[in-house]
Amino acid sequence: MLFDINLDGKTPNYIQIKNYFKDMILRGMLQKSEKLPSTRELSSILKVSRNTIITAYEFLEDEGFIHIKKGRGAFVNEIHINRLDELTITWEDKLTDYAVKAEKLDIMKHEVLYKKGMISFKSIAPDENLFNMEDFKRAFLNRVSLEGNKILNYGYAQGYKPLIEYLIKYMESKGVNSQGKSILVTNGFTEGMDLILASLTSPKDTVITENPTHNTAIKLMKLHGLNIIGIDIDKDGMDIELLKEKLRENTVKLCYIIPSYHNPTSIVTPSQKRAEIYNALKEFEVPIIEDGFNEELRFTGAHIAPIAAMQGEGNSVVYIGSFSKILFPGLRIGWILGDNKLISMLESVKRSRNIHTSFLDQAILYEYLKEGNLEKYVKIIRKEYKNKYKFALNCAEKYIKYSSIYGEGGMHIFIKLKDLNARDVLNECVNKNVIFTPGDIFYVNGKGKDTLRLGISRNSIEEIEKGFKIIGEVIDSLHKVPLH
Ligand SMILES: Cc1ncc(COP(=O)(O)O)c(C=O)c1O
Repeated sequence: MLFDINLDGKTPNYIQIKNYFKDMILRGMLQKSEKLPSTRELSSILKVSRNTIITAYEFLEDEGFIHIKKGRGAFVNEIHINRLDELTITWEDKLTDYAVKAEKLDIMKHEVLYKKGMISFKSIAPDENLFNMEDFKRAFLNRVSLEGNKILNYGYAQGYKPLIEYLIKYMESKGVNSQGKSILVTNGFTEGMDLILASLTSPKDTVITENPTHNTAIKLMKLHGLNIIGIDIDKDGMDIELLKEKLRENTVKLCYIIPSYHNPTSIVTPSQKRAEIYNALKEFEVPIIEDGFNEELRFTGAHIAPIAAMQGEGNSVVYIGSFSKILFPGLRIGWILGDNKLISMLESVKRSRNIHTSFLDQAILYEYLKEGNLEKYVKIIRKEYKNKYKFALNCAEKYIKYSSIYGEGGMHIFIKLKDLNARDVLNECVNKNVIFTPGDIFYVNGKGKDTLRLGISRNSIEEIEKGFKIIGEVIDSLHKVPLH
C-alpha cells in the first residue's frame, strides 16, 4: 500500500489522515476487509505520534468507514456507492424569469471589474483601515462570555432583543416617536427593502423613486416586477411639481427615498423639501420607505430630522436603517422601523425566508454599540471622509471638465459631464487603469448617460489626485465625441 499522505501543517494531522483513508475507501482504492497499517507502522512512516493515528482510526470507525478488532487491527467496512446512469441537466433552460433577470441586473458580473494595480472609484464601501478592531474584539469576547452557549442556538426572527431595544432608543434619539412602532432586524438594507416589496407590492404595481437612485433598490423593484416612476432630482432633492403630477396620474403603492447623502448624488434633501414630499404623498395616502443608510455621515450644517421623525404619531413612513456605511458592511445588519402591525407581518415573511439574522453577529454588534463605540467611531470617520471629500472635490474642480457636481458629502462625488457619454470615458480610463461607476445604472429610465459616480472612501489622497487627473485627461481628449 502506498502512503502518499502529505501532511500540510495547517489542519490537525489526525483529520488529514482520517480524510486520506476516507477518500481511498470512497474511491475503491481500499476494499472491504482490507487491513489498514498498524498504528505503530503508520506513525513511524508519517513521523507522527501513535496517538495521532489512534485518534484518526477512532474517527474512521465512528464515521462507519472501518471497524477495529481488538488485538488484530483496523479493517475496511463495505462502503459501496451505487453509481447510477448519469443525468445532465441544462440548468439555463430551467431558470425562472426571476433568476434570469437577477443575473442580467447583477452589475458585479456585467460591469468593468477591478484588476490589481488599478485605481478604482467604483466602491462606496467604508475604508476597513478605519475599523476599530480592538473594540470589536473586546465586544466579541464580552458578549460571548455573557451569553454563553445559547448564543449559538436558534434565535428569534424579529432580532436579538437587546439590539432591538438599543435601536428603538437610537431612533428616538433621531426624534422618532416610537409609540405603536417596532423594529425588525434584517440582513442589511437590501433584505429590508426586499421584505417590504415582497409584503406590500404585487407585480405591475406602481412605485415612485428619486431618479437617479440606489441601483440595488432599482434592481429589487425590477425583480418584483414593479412599474417604476422616477422623479428627477435637483440640488435640493425631488422635483416636487413632477412628483405631484405623477401622483395625480397614477395609483402609487409606495415611494422610496434617500433624503440624506443620497446615492448616487450625495444630495441632502432640506427639511422644508422633506415636508413638501411628505405632504404631497400624504394627500394620496402613499407610504414612504425612507432609506437612512448614511444619515450619520453629516459633514456640515445642523442635524436634519429623518421624515420618520417628522411624521410624529403617524405611521406612513417606514424607515430602513443599515450599519453598512457607518460601521461594518460585512456584518450585514440593518433594521426596519415601522408600525407594529406591519413589523409583525414582515417578521413572518422574514422567518419564512431565512429564520433570522445571525444572533451571534447581532449580539456582538449590540455589545459594541452599548459601549459607545459607534459614536466614537463615527466621530473619527466623519473627519476622515470629510477631509477626503473636500480634497476630492478640489481635484474634480481642478482636473475634470464637468457640467455639474452634485451633493454635500458622503463617500462619493456625482458628476454630470458636458455632452459626453460616461461609458466612453470609462472605456478609455480602463486602458489607463482607472475605473468608476457609470451613472446610467442609477437611473430608472435610461437617462444619466452623461453622469458618473466617483467613490472615494477607500482611496488614498494620492490615488484620488492621480485618478481624477487621468479621468480629466480622458475627458479632455474625448471632448469632441458626441453623446450617443
Ligand atoms: C442608498 C443605500 N442604502 C443602503 C445601502 C446599504 O445596503 P446594505 O445594508 O444592504 O449593505 C447602500 C449601500 O451602498 C446604499 O447605497
